[in-house]
Amino acid sequence: MEGEADVAAGAEAEAASGAEAEEAAGGHEVQHITDVAFSFEGPFGKFDQFQLQRGLQVYTEVCSACHGMKQVALRTLGDEGGPDLPDDQVRAYAAALDITDPETGEDRPRIPTDYFPTVTGEGMGPDLSLMAKARAGFHGPLGTGINQLIYGIGGPEYIYSVLTGYDGETKEQAGTTLYHNAAFAGNWIGMPAPLADDQVTYEDGTPATVDQMAKDVSAFLMWTAEPHMMNRKKVGFVSVIFLIVLASLLYLTNKRLWAPIKHGRDV
Ligand code: HEC
Repeated sequence: MEGEADVAAGAEAEAASGAEAEEAAGGHEVQHITDVAFSFEGPFGKFDQFQLQRGLQVYTEVCSACHGMKQVALRTLGDEGGPDLPDDQVRAYAAALDITDPETGEDRPRIPTDYFPTVTGEGMGPDLSLMAKARAGFHGPLGTGINQLIYGIGGPEYIYSVLTGYDGETKEQAGTTLYHNAAFAGNWIGMPAPLADDQVTYEDGTPATVDQMAKDVSAFLMWTAEPHMMNRKKVGFVSVIFLIVLASLLYLTNKRLWAPIKHGRDV
């Protein structure tokens, strides 16, 4: 189920001019986004609790060294429909992270009502709380965005593609190292390839390939960006059913009300 979609860098303008292919051939960078069949896609899609737990592990052991998630409350790790960790695990997870208490000015362990840490500084990356909704993986055809209706916005696909888009090529620019990455706009990213096979050890025995870890952490970041997606889909579905029933009732009522009048005219 994995298709591929090429999106021109700086999408719209180039794609609209129809010059995508030529520019690619001319050495111009093309963003390469891989479509992934995530469990939460489609009208009845659901987050896979165990995948979210694995993704949390990847975030914690790898990404959190350089990326904060300051908009995500630690307590939500216990939410149904999310990673659904038991209370004691949520407390233990929070307690492993220190915070300077804003009131007392002293360091203390975090509690579940605190948020994930903020990470800033030299070499650190952007906050990942909402990244899966801040980036789009699919733009086409011709930059119209119509693909998004079918494939979704492709945020988690974009993250997956960045994590798996390295080919080992690097270059120095203004004193910093840039890494060649097929999915990143411009194709040169400041983030060194963060994943290598068996970098984490999954408790559920899932083999920790780069591909698997990239999928898991992308799914996890979709959840942090839209924790109530399942609810939204459910409400949407119920609303559509409700509207269909309402429309049928109105149709029948209308028919009934006009029946004598139409009948009279017929005769
Ligand atoms: C060694 C530090 C480091 C680690 C570890 C790291 N990142 Fe990054 N990340 C960065 C930096 C720096 C950037 C900014 C790169 C740029 O803008 O060129 C970045 C950017 C990103 C971006 C944004 C790309 C964009 O479109 O702007 C995503 C998504 C991302 N990282 C995800 C992850 C994930 C997921 C992990 C864990 C698997 C991870 N990173 C681990 C340093 C890191």
